[in-house]
Amino acid sequence: MNQVRQIQQVIEPQVVMEGAGVRLRRSIAGRALDYLDPFLLFDHFGSDNPADYLPGFPMHPHRGIETVTYMLAGKVTHRDSLGNAGTIGAGDVQWMTSGRGIMHEEMPQPVSGKMAGFQLWVNLPARLKMTRPRYQEYLAASIPEAQLADGVGIRVVAGEAGGVRGPVTEIAAEPTYLDIRLPAGVTYAHPAPAGHTAFAYLFEGSALFGDSDRPLASPRLIVFGDGDVVQTRAGDEGARFLLVSGKPLGEPIARYGPFVMNTRQEIMQALADLQNGTFVTAD
Ligand code: FE2
Repeated sequence: MNQVRQIQQVIEPQVVMEGAGVRLRRSIAGRALDYLDPFLLFDHFGSDNPADYLPGFPMHPHRGIETVTYMLAGKVTHRDSLGNAGTIGAGDVQWMTSGRGIMHEEMPQPVSGKMAGFQLWVNLPARLKMTRPRYQEYLAASIPEAQLADGVGIRVVAGEAGGVRGPVTEIAAEPTYLDIRLPAGVTYAHPAPAGHTAFAYLFEGSALFGDSDRPLASPRLIVFGDGDVVQTRAGDEGARFLLVSGKPLGEPIARYGPFVMNTRQEIMQALADLQNGTFVTAD
């Protein structure tokens, strides 16, 4: 059965300030869309004005979630309470599972005056909220690109496209995370498991989605209804978009800034752990 997923909602990103004063375009965790189970937040960062991002994200905690940073331009240097430190640049990805707790710092740096990328937050199921923190960091060269007919190019961060598998594995949400380029007028259909939540984030050019005959211009986040295939066609300037899907958890959420748990009691515990110095544990 091939059931094309139709557009359920189109989100125009909302400008927000986060961290120590970073200007972001937010599409999930904003006014129009609070939570798209299992996705808790989606931010697009990037600007030609360094004042918009240089303040960065000084040391802050996370518990109960995964944060996925995918870079288009510039660099982000990071270090954390577990002794990890590094830099990710254009085309690199960091899939960070905070589990029971990390404290980290994320500081953007321009390269040739440019800085751009995305951060997605993926919820963890109750049974993994207090798991051991884990990083999967892949440099651009280790993220494979599928080259398909008609000039379609797909960088595969997680999941599979055109017979190519992405390097990020063993994530509870069984995610797909693709960076897709379509030349003008070209159509591409991608299988997306029925029952999984799926969205596209169109960030260059314009495209049509599902059976709609109305082209959407970037930047927009498109939430799809259920079905088993996502169908797109690029507009006159071509299109570049992320296609992301994952298995919904269907669990209650209690959310407080960088902590996302199942109950208010667990949020209070996170705050108490921070205060008592027991938030980050060696093992
Ligand atoms: Fe963070």
